Amino acid sequence: MRVASVALPLAGLAVSAAASSSSVGCNALKGPVANSLFFTGSTVYQYETKNFWSNTELMAPGCVFRPQSSSQLAKGLTALVDAEAKFAVRGGGHMGIRGSNNIDNGVLVVMSNLTTLELNKDKSVLSLGPGYRWGDVYEYLSTYDLTVPGGRLGPVGVPGLLLAGGVNFYGNQVGFACNSVINYEVVLANGTVVHANKTSNSDLFWALKGGSSNFGIVTRFDIETIKSPMVWAGAHTVEAQYVDQFLAAIAQYAANISDPKTHIVPALVPGDSTLASAILFYDSDSLSFPDILKIFTDIPSVSSTVGFKTVAEFAAELGEMVVPGINDVFVAGTVKGTTYEELYQGISIINTTFFNELPKLYKQIPSANISTIQLDWQPIGADWIKASNARGGNALGLDASQVYLCYAEVVEWIGSAYDDIVAQWVEDTTYAINNATQKAGLYDAFNYMGDAAGFQSIFPGYGATNQKRLINIAEKYDPERVFQTLMPGGFKVY
Ligand SMILES: Cc1cc2nc3c(=O)[nH]c(=O)nc-3n(C[C@H](O)[C@H](O)[C@H](O)COP(=O)(O)OP(=O)(O)OC[C@H]3O[C@@H](n4cnc5c(N)ncnc54)[C@H](O)[C@@H]3O)c2cc1C
Ligand SMILES: *[C@@H]1O[C@H](CO)[C@@H](O)[C@H](O)[C@H]1NC(C)=O
Ligand SMILES: *[C@@H]1O[C@H](CO)[C@@H](O)[C@H](O)[C@H]1NC(C)=O
Ligand SMILES: *[C@@H]1O[C@H](CO)[C@@H](O)[C@H](O)[C@H]1NC(C)=O
Ligand SMILES: *[C@@H]1O[C@H](CO)[C@@H](O)[C@H](O)[C@H]1NC(C)=O
Ligand SMILES: *[C@@H]1O[C@H](CO)[C@@H](O)[C@H](O)[C@H]1NC(C)=O
Ligand SMILES: *[C@@H]1O[C@H](CO)[C@@H](O)[C@H](O)[C@H]1NC(C)=O
Ligand SMILES: *[C@@H]1O[C@H](CO)[C@@H](O)[C@H](O)[C@H]1NC(C)=O
Repeated sequence: MRVASVALPLAGLAVSAAASSSSVGCNALKGPVANSLFFTGSTVYQYETKNFWSNTELMAPGCVFRPQSSSQLAKGLTALVDAEAKFAVRGGGHMGIRGSNNIDNGVLVVMSNLTTLELNKDKSVLSLGPGYRWGDVYEYLSTYDLTVPGGRLGPVGVPGLLLAGGVNFYGNQVGFACNSVINYEVVLANGTVVHANKTSNSDLFWALKGGSSNFGIVTRFDIETIKSPMVWAGAHTVEAQYVDQFLAAIAQYAANISDPKTHIVPALVPGDSTLASAILFYDSDSLSFPDILKIFTDIPSVSSTVGFKTVAEFAAELGEMVVPGINDVFVAGTVKGTTYEELYQGISIINTTFFNELPKLYKQIPSANISTIQLDWQPIGADWIKASNARGGNALGLDASQVYLCYAEVVEWIGSAYDDIVAQWVEDTTYAINNATQKAGLYDAFNYMGDAAGFQSIFPGYGATNQKRLINIAEKYDPERVFQTLMPGGFKVY
């Protein structure tokens, strides 16, 4: 049980008066890292425990540990392990799964003050702390006409995305965002701070590219920059009558991603009348309406924001499309194929199954309480996968001879009363979709972690070989299974 504690006169001070906290971990941290420990009643506790993307993530930790450095984090982690105390780790708080990045009673470790942000001498590499959101990073780099591959929406957090893989605007040129990371600074379970890169702890270096929080806590990412003065980008939205043409365009693009400067995020948005909207991106400060995107831009739009802008401006624009502080769930799934016909069939099955299931949701939740429903498709083809492989590969296990269409279902609603209804509906709908795509021979077990819901599993979809390799690396770097047992949140390799 949580006990109300005395309000703090000064934010930033530990409240030793809150010794009544029931958490073993909070007590264990009082000695070693007192100046970075915050209890209920303090403004820091209030701020950090609300600093999550979806209301479904809000919980009641016993205290918040906000380390100022990797060495302080290491000290705190050692104390937690010695006390066998439970904890959670939160970066940008965008994994919308309850308990993945938060905890009741235990210690919530937040990355907010690990804020390295520094270009190397020739500006080819950015050292980046896990306390950032992508919008901050792009803003900083735009001064230098640079960017990095990262989240497409500004508010999303840096660490969770890079540890999941990172679907980004430049994917067809540089692969998953994690493949541009050339070095990680990591606090291991035993409190040692190590670097993982191509030549040092190279197995850990590979595992962190898709293996998430199973190996250590990352306190710095060194990531390669990309020249980016301006890009041509925007959201192109068309009306219901064009939905079938739009779905065909997705298949046509996916079957032949012939121009690696492009990136698209096509989505259907059901409502009184369904809209189809594609985020379109082209890496050029001079060429607009590239040929390969004409299959989308030739469809008459009801609204379009395409034009030249910086990545920082575009990520801020897209960030406006989502509402923070309500309830959200994302669900992931994948179909794969090699031809237009296969990919179109995969899209069509997903579309039809999803729309067939929708009335069941509308029957249970008033439309005023549904903020957004969305179904989107992320094409990932040969250029993307080869670019990842050329940079050392990752744990995700995608095969460059296939084209993957990773779909995501998004439901955002108002009122926790509906949490269980939505959870059941997305689970039923996802199984219905996957059973149908499996029957057609188009199903793939890959679930992109960034889009996955709590009921889904991730690592089996990476393939048995990669999963086994990840388990071996976790056993080597965390033999006591600290990240499997004392940190209950997140996707576990074993
Ligand atoms: C609106 C929205 C837009 C999105 N857009 C994209 C996109 O464009 N591309 C894409 O690839 N994904 C996207 N995602 C998914 C996104 O990658 C994940 O939600 C990711 O987890 C976000 O990172 P975070 O730091 O905010 O997550 P958090 O919720 O803070 O953390 C996610 C997981 O990583 C662990 N973790 C956090 N920090 C560390 C650390 N330093 N060391 C070890 N483990 C850590 C946490 O414990 C947790 O289990 C989007 C999500 C949302 C909600
Ligand atoms: C720590 O992070 C908080 C929240 O972002 C910020 O307000 C505060 O200034 C930071 N403190 C330090 C010392 O960096
Ligand atoms: C790799 O790690 C070692 C230390 O373990 C470090 O000396 C070296 O600079 C790192 N390489 C990169 C590219 O950061
Ligand atoms: C692929 O796209 C390019 C450019 O959009 C086009 O020239 C080419 O004919 C297409 N190839 C196939 C097989 O559709
Ligand atoms: C997508 O679903 C809608 C709604 O059920 C339907 O009208 C449309 O024909 C479907 N299109 C395809 C290509 O499956
Ligand atoms: C439904 O949404 C409204 C705001 O649109 C909110 O005031 C109300 O509390 C919600 N209903 C429930 C049951 O949470
Ligand atoms: C098919 O549906 C069942 C439940 O109805 C589910 O258990 C199973 O996992 C589904 N298959 C896939 C591939 O999701
Ligand atoms: C910490 O763990 C790593 C990885 O298992 C190991 O190499 C290192 O020797 C350990 N350090 C100490 C001080 O035990």
